[in-house]
Amino acid sequence: MRFLGEPAPPVLIASVARMSAAISGVFIFNPACRCAHAGYSLMRQSGTMIEIRRSTESDGQAVYDLLWSARAEIPLRDSFDTSESCAWVKKHCSEGHMWVALDGTTIVGFLFRNLDELFYLVVATKYRGDGVGRSLLRKGKRKGTYCKIKPHNTAAISLVEAEGFVKSDQLTPGDWVRYDYKQA
Ligand SMILES: CC(C)(COP(=O)(O)OP(=O)(O)OC[C@H]1O[C@@H](n2cnc3c(N)ncnc32)[C@H](O)[C@@H]1OP(=O)(O)O)[C@@H](O)C(=O)NCCC(=O)NCCS
Repeated sequence: MRFLGEPAPPVLIASVARMSAAISGVFIFNPACRCAHAGYSLMRQSGTMIEIRRSTESDGQAVYDLLWSARAEIPLRDSFDTSESCAWVKKHCSEGHMWVALDGTTIVGFLFRNLDELFYLVVATKYRGDGVGRSLLRKGKRKGTYCKIKPHNTAAISLVEAEGFVKSDQLTPGDWVRYDYKQA
């Protein structure tokens, strides 16, 4: 999946999170936890507090390692694993182009947005199924955003469709299927 945007205003973030809590009981938004880089926190069902914020330079290596750990699912080619790719990830982290999810100081998920394209949404295996991916996507999506997903990636497809993305007829090279977010 490929992604960037300005953070939603605090009131909007609070409303969405409260709505999520009301519907699913998964998130408990804590407005007091808004912090640097327009971050905010959510509580997982397990009781762990997850912070979501913009990336910084120091996140680069951990984001790259998590990205590479999900290479089979995304998928990424073996040839992706180069110092140039790592430097590319680090550069975008230092420019704040990623949203990162943290359990304490450990990065457990991230989403990358470049202009209107979202790419690379990854949640660490043991943190999946608890709303982290959805929260990251809600930070990154905006009208005109799109992503490309392999047809076999049912988890990612189910997530983007549930978040209002619509399958496009536009052909893309490499058997990727494009999904567009047209809502405001
Ligand atoms: C796709 C991914 C980011 C989802 O993250 P997550 O934190 O587990 O997702 P969430 O808990 O927020 O789930 C939100 C929704 O996604 C969908 N979803 C998540 N995991 C799913 C699964 N295994 N099967 C089907 N749907 C799934 C569901 O619609 C779910 O909503 P629900 O809980 O109401 O059913 C995660 O599975 C992942 O990192 N996969 C590997 C990397 C990858 O393929 N990324 C996409 C391409 S870059």
